[in-house]
Amino acid sequence: MGSLENRVFEHDVMEIVQTRWSSRAFDRERKLSEEDLGAVLEAATYAPNCFNEQPWRWVVARQGSPAFEAIVSTMTPCNQAWAPEASVLLVMLSKQTFSYNNQPNRFARFDTGTAWGYLTLEAQSRGVLAHGMGGFKPDELRNRLGIPADFEIVALAALGYYGSPDYLPDSVKAKEKPNPRKPVVEVIFTPEI
Ligand SMILES: Cc1cc2nc3c(=O)[nH]c(=O)nc-3n(C[C@H](O)[C@H](O)[C@H](O)COP(=O)(O)O)c2cc1C
Repeated sequence: MGSLENRVFEHDVMEIVQTRWSSRAFDRERKLSEEDLGAVLEAATYAPNCFNEQPWRWVVARQGSPAFEAIVSTMTPCNQAWAPEASVLLVMLSKQTFSYNNQPNRFARFDTGTAWGYLTLEAQSRGVLAHGMGGFKPDELRNRLGIPADFEIVALAALGYYGSPDYLPDSVKAKEKPNPRKPVVEVIFTPEI
């Protein structure tokens, strides 16, 4: 794992929050175990969500499967440079209507993002690397996988175990460090009204 030195924590934040980062280097010798995959998806299931609709859905594709290859084919070249080494690719979907009345659920994407956040933390607690991706062609992916219209394609994720970056092309290796963050004071507003 890369050094965390460019992250400065003012508070005693949970270790898994401090250490999680979006590496692109997988342990190519290790398939993601069914236990770890099941646990990260179960953690996601327990995210808080509007009306307990649980609008998230996950297309799960193992490396080598036709669905995995289809997902890779819709990625940007930048992502194709590293993500095919993931053990599992996820397509994160969000059901856009409430099941009880078929009305639009304006929190569906929000709730799916929360579930993804839970997934990443369970992953980190197990030494699993979970890297989100927006760089792909959603319309093409919808056609390739036959995803119904009521399900928004929110993002992709690459899952596997953290590994050495040695095998990565130089352009990708250069990005192998945890990203810093804005200081919290920069994102807090206290209106004087
Ligand atoms: C919705 C979403 C889309 C992202 N898209 C990409 C992507 O297409 N390619 C990529 O390499 N990383 C992508 N990332 C990873 C982000 O760049 C990364 O999470 C961000 O820079 C913060 O760094 P950290 O996760 O290491 O803390 C994405 C992350 C999310 C959550």
